[in-house]
Amino acid sequence: MSGQQTIAGDDLPDGLVVADAAGAVVHLNQAAARLLGTDRDAVIGQPLSEVITLDDLSGCSWYDAMRPYDGLETRTRLVEQAWYRPDGRELLVTGGLVRERPLGAVLRVTVSMRAVRARWQLDRRHSDLVATVAHELRSPLTGVKGFTATLLAKWDRFSDQQRRLMLETVDADADRLARLITELLDTARIDAGRLALRVAPVDVVALSRRVAASITAAGGRDIRLELSAGAPEIWGDADKLSQVLTNLVENAQRHGRGTVAVSVLGEPAADGTPGVAVLVDDEGEGVPEELRERVFNRFWHTGGQDGSGLGLYIVRGLVEAHSGEVAILSSPAGGARIRIWLPVAEPETLAATSVS
Ligand SMILES: Nc1ncnc2c1ncn2[C@@H]1O[C@H](COP(=O)(O)OP(=O)(O)OP(=O)(O)O)[C@@H](O)[C@H]1O
Ligand SMILES: [Mg+2]
Repeated sequence: MSGQQTIAGDDLPDGLVVADAAGAVVHLNQAAARLLGTDRDAVIGQPLSEVITLDDLSGCSWYDAMRPYDGLETRTRLVEQAWYRPDGRELLVTGGLVRERPLGAVLRVTVSMRAVRARWQLDRRHSDLVATVAHELRSPLTGVKGFTATLLAKWDRFSDQQRRLMLETVDADADRLARLITELLDTARIDAGRLALRVAPVDVVALSRRVAASITAAGGRDIRLELSAGAPEIWGDADKLSQVLTNLVENAQRHGRGTVAVSVLGEPAADGTPGVAVLVDDEGEGVPEELRERVFNRFWHTGGQDGSGLGLYIVRGLVEAHSGEVAILSSPAGGARIRIWLPVAEPETLAATSVS
């Protein structure tokens, strides 16, 4: 913004971006530059589609969803909606279309945006949650209902083997429902800050061994363990930490490829606080840098019906309740490396120690 004089709209608390008939940005106020994390001088003249780098939870960009220059000629407004920055922050964006005459070509597009207020975000999160929950629960339930109804109506027409097959599907769907409900309950507790930890000394090395054994026993691929004998015991909730590790290993097996390795080592934080680091590595594609924040959002996921996108949200909630940290890095083996760090911490310094 070197030497640029104050221009119209700089006093506005909201971000304002204006693009001309050709789709090039002709105006951007200070708030917009800040909200979009861009340099004003650099974006004037650039295509609007490249300046507004916001997208929704499924990765569809604001520009592709709005298509401000196409669509109905009657349109003069762009609906107000929440969009995400690459770093995961939410902005509320709306806009207007100025046409040369009613139903004529678009002369100018104005876009205004503001950071989503915490209160509003919370309200919206709750209604989003209800909608998503209903949707997520419905698909396995449709399968259950379909097969039970068919079996009841036409029991005699199926062979034992066919009945078994249907019941196996019902069984798998019921498992999926049960898992989903557990995840949703955890999510609600994390959201409400009501996560209760039952803290006791935890040997993370032994815990990692147990988790690996139970995943392998349940049919998961073999896991390579690199457990450092010197890792100190920490204060934590063993069940919740098992859940964290199970989630990470299952992710590595499902979303990654090749060998999955779990390493545990004693490692102090930068300020010297003693702690333990756990690394879960795989040899898949890894997580692109621009998504490393976003994958922690509730319901953000890839891979269709297979997951619900709550796993990493819960992982972060549980790790933070232990005053720990979680980060996504690149594994030297080529895939993703998820690193969690947990302080040795005295129980009273934990976020919640009451048992509900
Ligand atoms: N090891 C990994 N390698 C590559 N991508 C990953 C890895 N772990 C997570 N991801 C990405 O992060 C997304 C979110 O993960 P998350 O665990 O929250 O949801 P999920 O595994 O899809 O569903 P679930 O709720 O069943 O865990 C995944 O859908 C995937 O795109
Ligand atoms: Mg997962």
